[in-house]
Amino acid sequence: MDFDRILVTAALPYANGPIHLGHLAGAYLPADLFCRYGRMKGKDVVFVCGSDEMGVAIMVRARKEGVEPQDIVDRYHPQIKEAFKGFGMSFDIYSRTTTAVHAETSQEFFRTLAGKGIFTTKKERQLFDPKAGIFLADRFVVGTCPTCGNENAYGDQCEKCGSTLSPMELLHPRSTLSDATPELRETTHWYLPLGDFQTRLENWIGQHPEWKPNVLGQVNSWLKDGLRERAITRDVPWGVPVPEDVAKSQGIDASGKVIYVWFDAPIGYISATKEWALEQGKPDEWKKYWKDEKTRLVHFIGKDNIVFHCLMFPAMLMAHEGYVLPENVPANEFLNIEGDKLSTSRNWAVWLHEYLEEFDADLLRYALATMLPETKDADFNWTEFQTRINSELADVLGNFVNRTMTFAARFADGKVPRLVNPNDIDKYTLKELATFPNRIGTAYDRYKNREAVFETMALARLGNKYFNDSEPWHTRKSNPQSCANAIHISLQICASLAVLLEPLLPDSAQKIRNMLNLAGVRSSMPKDILDPTSGGSTIGWDDAVKPLLKEGHVLGESSILFTKIEDEVIEAQKAKLGAKPTQMETELAFAPLKDVITYDDFAKLDFRMGTVLSAEAIPKSKKLLKLTIDLGFEKRQILAGAAEHFEPEAMIGRRVAIVANLAPRLMMGMESQGMVLMAEGRDGQLAIMESIGEDGAIIK
Ligand code: 2FM
Ligand code: ZN
Repeated sequence: MDFDRILVTAALPYANGPIHLGHLAGAYLPADLFCRYGRMKGKDVVFVCGSDEMGVAIMVRARKEGVEPQDIVDRYHPQIKEAFKGFGMSFDIYSRTTTAVHAETSQEFFRTLAGKGIFTTKKERQLFDPKAGIFLADRFVVGTCPTCGNENAYGDQCEKCGSTLSPMELLHPRSTLSDATPELRETTHWYLPLGDFQTRLENWIGQHPEWKPNVLGQVNSWLKDGLRERAITRDVPWGVPVPEDVAKSQGIDASGKVIYVWFDAPIGYISATKEWALEQGKPDEWKKYWKDEKTRLVHFIGKDNIVFHCLMFPAMLMAHEGYVLPENVPANEFLNIEGDKLSTSRNWAVWLHEYLEEFDADLLRYALATMLPETKDADFNWTEFQTRINSELADVLGNFVNRTMTFAARFADGKVPRLVNPNDIDKYTLKELATFPNRIGTAYDRYKNREAVFETMALARLGNKYFNDSEPWHTRKSNPQSCANAIHISLQICASLAVLLEPLLPDSAQKIRNMLNLAGVRSSMPKDILDPTSGGSTIGWDDAVKPLLKEGHVLGESSILFTKIEDEVIEAQKAKLGAKPTQMETELAFAPLKDVITYDDFAKLDFRMGTVLSAEAIPKSKKLLKLTIDLGFEKRQILAGAAEHFEPEAMIGRRVAIVANLAPRLMMGMESQGMVLMAEGRDGQLAIMESIGEDGAIIK
């Protein structure tokens, strides 16, 4: 089918933490390559994304930090947006799901489906945390996955085997909010009976044998198991409210009920397109992209999102009617880091904002594109990153552009020399050059980005080989025209590269264009962010089949494209992995309160004031300090687990509170006659509770 326009979505990342390489490799880099390539081809592309700001994932983060969900999304949304910009993501809009447009759009969708009688409602008993006073939806509950036995499956999904779950299906459910045993309480919810769409979904998926095997594999296995209903509302205090009119007409109390995040999030793609249309001053323009069958809709996601994009959202679109269905959902598998599973809690991750503080975006775009988990899980490792940059970008691409520019400056007066009587190698090379736009383009079009990178570099390799075979350093004296021809053709290869590198290395492609003084190349950025200095852009992707530089054209200044990365720099990056997380990545959990005690329990404890008289490290113990403490009426030896936090000398003279009636304990062969009270922060840091009062004073 011929399409008039392309609408591309990239999964809306949860605004509950920063972006890492796993995100980029799953959805964002592939989506950006596809969009930039499409725009270079002259296609009408709209690329939408935004932060996923609803749902339990946000609430979990907020509770860990003791702040409101709004504080979390207000912190991470701008950070994520900024990091994406630094990485060169060419979104037409990067919105968020806390906008009014999104709430209205989601509620309208819900209302329409309810009006069509699509949903069912059910009153049933669900898990409730009596201590936290909340129903245990989604990530508020973990338990054992009934399918694969993963002991940390969430209430809505097992991230290990990909099964979709409901909290009641978990074996041994535990609240993530408190240590309370979940109770059962009655509540009413709306359900999307996916089974009603089974046949229609099967027929539609059946029309797409060209989808990636990893995607079809997952989808067909769900279809084979038979689709089941899914609850699409929740009793939690954060989310798009269930429309009251709908609830009222069904005699249900909607208070405290919100739409399930996986119902509203994909609608976020529609809301974002509406907001984009508003920004364009054409409020109805979004409809063309969502409702006209000449739209090619493509969802870029990671593999954990397949069920939602290939079955649930399409069922919602079918149910609503009038919307296009995705033409493809090229989901990627997962990216490991240095051979180990990516884990944000262990800080086994490479954070985009931290990367961008030290390196250029293009280097990561390139290296990551060669390692994308397109057919199976793949591994990012820093040594390979270094090799890709040093041996490919610097030694192949950078070297070719550099030697061409140097020869042109020295032996062609900084201009494009005339091509006269080309020999066989010249003709062969020009003929080969003409094949590249199609070779690279076909790969991008088929979501084979690794192949596209390989083909792009093959053009730089062709350039180097041609340069070597033509030996302009010899012919410069023996056959000046042959030397001029070699410079001419090498420059034309550079010019084609300056177009064909645009999706992959947008900054470097611009640098090459500056060196060549090549203007008029179409931008791969959205129309409204076009560089005004690019003038009338006439050179597109397919123009790179032919020589783009006129004879006599005056070249620009040469500059170094890529510098090599030293081993120490790579070692420093490796050392960051798994190292103590920074404040931002720390899971700042407040420990749950202990069981209630009576006053009598409390009264048994004897707290006293004291002064540290001496403090010394204990050989062979990393943790303990030996303290002598003056209690006024006697001196005590206390072994305190503070060695990792305080130098012994810094303890001397400190006023401390101690538990004075704790039975003596032997530690490292020494007796400890009490305990010093210290406050342990959520980051594990200890602080002494400096106190007043004479030594021996009773604390109560
Ligand atoms: O898995 C995730 O990170 C989700 N926030 C993706 C949502 S994609 C879409 F539907 F919005
Ligand atoms: Zn599982």
